Amino acid sequence: MSENQAPSASPCSAVVGMQWGDEGKGKIVDLIAPQHDAVARYNGGANAGHSVVVKGERFSLHLIPSGILYPSKLAIIGNGVVLDPDKLQQEIDGLRARGVDTAGLMVSNRAHVVMPYHKVEDAAREDSLKQERLARDDGASSVVSEIGTTRRGIGPAYAEKVQRSGAVRVGDLLDPATLQEKIAIAIATKRASLAGYPDVGESLDVKAVTDWALRAGEIIRPMVHDTTYLLNNLVRAGKKVLFESANGTLLDVDHGTYPFVTGSSCSVGGIGPGTGVPVQRVGRVTGVMKAYSTRVGSGPMPTELAGPGADGQIGDRIRNRGREFGTTTGRPRRVGWLDLVAVKYSAMINGTTGLALTMLDVLAGLETVRVCTKYEFGGKQTDRFLPDSASLAAARPVYTDLPGFSEDVSAAKSRSELPARARAYIEFIEQTVGIPVEIVSVGPDRAQTIAS
Ligand code: IMP
Repeated sequence: MSENQAPSASPCSAVVGMQWGDEGKGKIVDLIAPQHDAVARYNGGANAGHSVVVKGERFSLHLIPSGILYPSKLAIIGNGVVLDPDKLQQEIDGLRARGVDTAGLMVSNRAHVVMPYHKVEDAAREDSLKQERLARDDGASSVVSEIGTTRRGIGPAYAEKVQRSGAVRVGDLLDPATLQEKIAIAIATKRASLAGYPDVGESLDVKAVTDWALRAGEIIRPMVHDTTYLLNNLVRAGKKVLFESANGTLLDVDHGTYPFVTGSSCSVGGIGPGTGVPVQRVGRVTGVMKAYSTRVGSGPMPTELAGPGADGQIGDRIRNRGREFGTTTGRPRRVGWLDLVAVKYSAMINGTTGLALTMLDVLAGLETVRVCTKYEFGGKQTDRFLPDSASLAAARPVYTDLPGFSEDVSAAKSRSELPARARAYIEFIEQTVGIPVEIVSVGPDRAQTIAS
């Protein structure tokens, strides 16, 4: 086969979030990883939080692909990721301390680095947006508001990448002269915008930042590779790569609930730019979705269960049963009924071939479960996800009510062991979205999974 000839089949897979992140992708990646030779992250950074529970032991990963828990696999951080070296080091140390072999970890030389000033910019921008919102008469707006970012410097790092001149890539960490020049350029452009912001620390000190970056480079050096060739060579050799998405399709910078989104392409479309592997090498796309909805930060969420009344109580119940508190920031997540308008839209964007339904056990004990199948907007009903946040905030969900199930499902080993009403819920999802549910997760442990 010539170098650029495509392999006949599409040997790679992708795991992608169908909602606003936190769908349980880490567990699903961990389940599918054994059928692959390598796992690659292609977007996001330390804003993500992937939890995997193995034999009762919980691992929380932010930057490192969840596939690292299989020692024989390569775990690759692709060029589309924005890399926080301190967080990477912490995560490696944490894994090693628990006996996990991290020798298979590789980092793209083209990945961009989250610099200390990016975190300050993130915080300064959020603070100023909050002040703007509070200064408005009603103190609330669906459009002009802080995004509620993780303050991990994600947006500013991606913005720097697009600005170009002062952006630092992992490869630059190994080249002191280039590094210092880039940092000096970046800091020169930030001094004015951050003037007066109190918490800049040493982030605008060129020498301090350069010294930090050089130290980071020495630590990362053994892991740095041209992962673009590495991944393409693996694919050409018939190896199977699993692409692990971070965040969720509804947080995608292009396709999500803009502007309340993250800075990267979280959908399958991000694989090409984020790894250099053509997306047509991806055959199987597993869309991970919770049995209900959650969201962290600001932005519209049509099915949100909030407020002092019955809805808020159901929301609290789901939040507590589902332990819906951020892996990255600890923030309580906003909770809502399942929104199938949104999931169907995400399935379309990603070319999802199969669904993985997570957290089904959390819904046990509810008399009725509601599923949004349409929105009412501008006096009409629509089954389309709306393109802008203001419209989505004004849309009212149209629900189909299904009977809930009271049984504990967390020990079910097959779909037939699930109560009839839980099975009916799954079938309703399959029929409405038009895609089979291939995996059902009924608890956090690897073993609490039903695969069809
Ligand atoms: P950023 O990615 O830190 O810029 O945050 C942008 C928005 O995406 C905020 O609403 C965050 O809460 C949200 N976000 C980013 N990553 C995740 C994630 O992995 N799960 C859930 N929400 C996320």
